[in-house]
Amino acid sequence: MTPATRLDLDPDQAPEPATGSWLERRLPVGRALRREYRDYPLPRNLNALWFFGAFAVVTLAAMIVTGICLALHYTPTEAGAFDSVEAIIRRVPSGWILRSVHMAGASCFFAVLYVHIFRGLYYGSYKAPREVLWLSGFVALLMVMATAFFGYVLPWGQMSYWGAVVVGNAVAAIPLIGHPLAGMLLGGDAPGAATPMRFFVLHMLCGGLICAVLFIHIAALHVTGSNNPAGIEPRSPADTLPMHPFYTTKDGVGLCLFLAVLLGLAFLAPALLTEADNYLPANPLLTPPDITPEWYFTPFYALLRSVPSRLGGLLLAGAALAVVAAVPWLDRAPTRSARFRPLARPAWFAMAASFLLLGLAGSHEATGFWLWLGRLAGLYWFLHFLVLLPLIARIERPLPLPTSLA
Ligand code: HEM
Repeated sequence: MTPATRLDLDPDQAPEPATGSWLERRLPVGRALRREYRDYPLPRNLNALWFFGAFAVVTLAAMIVTGICLALHYTPTEAGAFDSVEAIIRRVPSGWILRSVHMAGASCFFAVLYVHIFRGLYYGSYKAPREVLWLSGFVALLMVMATAFFGYVLPWGQMSYWGAVVVGNAVAAIPLIGHPLAGMLLGGDAPGAATPMRFFVLHMLCGGLICAVLFIHIAALHVTGSNNPAGIEPRSPADTLPMHPFYTTKDGVGLCLFLAVLLGLAFLAPALLTEADNYLPANPLLTPPDITPEWYFTPFYALLRSVPSRLGGLLLAGAALAVVAAVPWLDRAPTRSARFRPLARPAWFAMAASFLLLGLAGSHEATGFWLWLGRLAGLYWFLHFLVLLPLIARIERPLPLPTSLA
């Protein structure tokens, strides 16, 4: 008789149908997928804002597929980068739509992520026990930001070049390590011959790392389960629904609408969200009158330019992100959802408005009104996270919570 193995003794191993059972007993992927995706219980009251995680996954997949196709035709050299992107648009079969989807996809990715994050902030999805889930999402955001920046430089247009100059200068302002770090990144004191290849490698590398971080993000989500608009944990099976067919169908409808927007942008208005200056080849001798990043970086760009010191601006932009990472420890109120928090709710709206105003300020020249708007909105952003959230947690009297989701 063969000795019993762990596989034979494990009480979790229900008998499998004959077909495929040999592999399933040795690598129970089918069982894990069924448990984690088909039968996975989700709170029954999730609203449309819970679509956005799925939207982010689909956008990431679209970015990877179109990105690989584009990479096959891209030339990562100073002399060849701009022309190779022109060739992709004009001569490579279907190249124009691949590039359009990749560009519109970048904008949609950020739009989706910002809604995803602000939804989490509204419904308190960052609170215990979901801190690791929150932090893994935050790391994914940083990776997406880095990937977007590296990718934006690749076409080697005017904005690509001068964007790299601005970021290179900001990195160089870091004490001690700044100069060597900027030199390593750009391959010299300014963007030049070595830059496109370095950014190409980093762009591909970060794209892969996002997938790894996403794996941790989803694993952490499946440990704690999803939060929901009421912000209370499901208390009985009646409070939940299996993912399939309920949420697969619902998310499917949302995905159709989302894809209509993404493809609508890609087919009908590919230039809507980009800078016209980036269709001019990079010219180190001609500084554009106003160097503006893509819309999704403008809130942080406003902070970067809100003080006269480069290092100060960099610290402010970094701190604006760091407070988001730290929110599980800044907001100690036991009630999660802002629906039941009479003070945290209006504070959330003011904080969201301050982010929009920062974005608006960052898309204008940093003088006069726009400079001051950026400064005030930035001040409110920090006030919200560092002062209001901890204070509200102490003084607020939340409304009574429902007793069940059903
Ligand atoms: C590559 C980027 C990201 C992807 C692909 C992604 C994907 C997902 C997915 C599929 C879900 C489950 C569905 C949902 O709740 O919407 C989810 C949940 C969640 N994500 Fe993300 N996410 C990303 C970035 C982030 C970021 C930047 C944060 C916050 C800093 C974050 C925080 C959360 C939280 C807290 C949940 C649980 C929400 C709840 O149950 O209420 N995620 N994410």
